[in-house]
Amino acid sequence: MAEVIGERDGILREELLSFRHFVVETHSLIQKEKNRKFYFCRLPYQNVSHIKEYAGYIRDRFESFVVIGIGGSSLGARMLFESLTETNHNLKKKPKIFFLENVDPEKFKSVLEQIDIKNTCFNVVTKSGSTVETIANFSVILSMLKKELGDNYRENLVFTTDPEKGFLRKLGNQEKIKMFDVPPLVGGRFSVLSPVGLLPAAVAGIDIEELLAGAKKMDLVCSIEEHVEHNPAYLIALSHYIANMRRGKTISVMMPYSEKLSSFVDWYRQLWAESLGKDGLGQTPVKAIGTVDQHSQIQLYREGIRDKIITFLHIEKSDVDYKIPEELPEDISYLSGHSLHEILSKELLGTKAALIKSKVPNITISIDRISSYNIGMLIYLYELATGFSGYLYKINPFDQPAVEEGKNFTYALMGREGYQEKLEEFKELYKE
Ligand code: PA5
Repeated sequence: MAEVIGERDGILREELLSFRHFVVETHSLIQKEKNRKFYFCRLPYQNVSHIKEYAGYIRDRFESFVVIGIGGSSLGARMLFESLTETNHNLKKKPKIFFLENVDPEKFKSVLEQIDIKNTCFNVVTKSGSTVETIANFSVILSMLKKELGDNYRENLVFTTDPEKGFLRKLGNQEKIKMFDVPPLVGGRFSVLSPVGLLPAAVAGIDIEELLAGAKKMDLVCSIEEHVEHNPAYLIALSHYIANMRRGKTISVMMPYSEKLSSFVDWYRQLWAESLGKDGLGQTPVKAIGTVDQHSQIQLYREGIRDKIITFLHIEKSDVDYKIPEELPEDISYLSGHSLHEILSKELLGTKAALIKSKVPNITISIDRISSYNIGMLIYLYELATGFSGYLYKINPFDQPAVEEGKNFTYALMGREGYQEKLEEFKELYKE
């Protein structure tokens, strides 16, 4: 049985081409939606001089910078920081950058222990202005800041939130806190190229103009190319859709051969899961890291349940590399003179061959190096692929009613006004 499924697991060119009319029609719908639902496509063209200027002030003035946000209000910024700054940035550079996402007291303590609160700028990021984790973490920090700095506490805060609505905007207006806008038409997980991701990135010293230049390049390629074979975003979306709906691949594994891209996969996991997991449809995105997970997951991917499509991320050149000495004992002399990055690339090829042998569908995306430009391209590529997938699955990729439901139950449990009915519903669900 496995053999028969295996023979049919690959995705045929003709099958992709059979979607050509659908792709042309959807392409034109997307172009028309760029000032509405697909507004994230406009972000690469924004003027970022005000973001750069304020980031410059923060860099000069503060020793540390803490982003307080969660989900789409943090994952993108964390992905940019971890992918694009030097490894061990916080040991070598100022300002040190931290992320307070969870309401985990141990994590909170660990961040506090690494900063001097008086010399720290806190960027509170929440589009709705009310997410429990963000507002709770912020409230604790606010009381600490007031205690340490008295009326001067305001200088250590910057808010990124909806331009008009929500608690945080109201507070920011009242207290005259510096604020940046989350564009109203851009949802959390599509907001990394807005001030949500760009301010922390610029504070970390990342070239945000290059990031946007990469995204712009991808927008250009994908805007002029309505042919499925030449449009990388549509190709990714369709391959995954066919793998899912026609081959039963309910899991999409993303496997970068680079530890620096680990949080790129965290960002992708949110984008794919929260956007497409609707109406009983969607694929579960899973993270694997090459080569580490070769020694753990690949057994399952090759010989276990055949429910996966794998995407490898290949980095052609590494900015740092280490050479293995020429003189090695005979048993391991096959490694002589090779470099660590060379082995990483060969291991990717080896794993890919092993998957092909087992007829596990896989895609490889190569970038020449990890740079702001290339990450900008990848961000735009996956955002557009996700938006396009919404049309394939016939669902709205831009809402998240199931996430909101969990948030509403939490508000009810914490006694928020107006949530009494939700509390009753909660009690009903827990009744035996
Ligand atoms: O993508 C989304 O919409 C979510 O992941 C949100 O970003 C997350 O729930 C945080 O919401 P907010 O920015 O309103 O605090």
